[in-house]
Amino acid sequence: MDIIIRDNYEEMSTYAAEIIAGYIKYKPDCVLGLATGGTPIGTYKELIRMHHEGLDFSQVITFNLDEYLGVGMELERPYHSDQSYARFMHEELFKHINIKKENIHLPDGQTEDPKKFCIWYEAEIKRVGGIDLQILGLGGDGHWGFNEPGSSLGSRTRVQALTEQTLDDNYEAFYKNANIERSKMPHFAITMGIGTILEAKNILMVVNGSKKANILAKCLEGPITSQVTSSAIQLHSGEITVVIDEAAASKLTHSGRYKHIEKLKHQFGL
Ligand code: F6R
Repeated sequence: MDIIIRDNYEEMSTYAAEIIAGYIKYKPDCVLGLATGGTPIGTYKELIRMHHEGLDFSQVITFNLDEYLGVGMELERPYHSDQSYARFMHEELFKHINIKKENIHLPDGQTEDPKKFCIWYEAEIKRVGGIDLQILGLGGDGHWGFNEPGSSLGSRTRVQALTEQTLDDNYEAFYKNANIERSKMPHFAITMGIGTILEAKNILMVVNGSKKANILAKCLEGPITSQVTSSAIQLHSGEITVVIDEAAASKLTHSGRYKHIEKLKHQFGL
């Protein structure tokens, strides 16, 4: 596992975007797993900038991690509601790059048969050969996707109830400004499972800010537990890169060692 510590959010985002761009250049038809949320916005901005300089997304295939269930049923497809993750992805990335619509996969928050949809989503990931690089943020309660504490570390794509902490976090980020009452937020989501995420060939996790410092330490240096579902990162067998800023790194016991290893690897061209 490579743990890369950068001074601030901008440097973290640039580093993460360079990794993603590297995959796209190496394998133009690569399959990316994508996350929403505040953390990857800077990374997506940098990818958009790179696209303007020639980075080609025309063969890239994407699968998003999650979507609220039932969001904005009254609104027209495809963006469900202003708070839908589909809309977020469109606004923050898809509409700015040359990705093909048919190559974008998002959990369908409006599906009439969530169970059937989840089985189809898993099959679709397999059909394209699996996810090459899964991009992840880290939830305040340690979740990946919406895999809340207590989710099985072998879980697959499914419907998941959101915890109070996630409802609070997402209310602040997405609903408060839109003047939507907290009680009216969706309380369920479709999410890829931890087992699904662990099958991605490689993982890139981005985390920033002091608010995430304690949970990041649990995720990377604590015991592997379904109470911190992202601690399953310690079980992954592919290439793992964790790119974080100094504030998020502040509670890591071994941050000095991670920096030293990065320097050594750089020195030896590894
Ligand atoms: C969203 C997702 C979530 C977020 C996490 C962190 O698709 O998968 O697990 O990555 O909640 O969100 P931010 O980045 O807003 O702190």
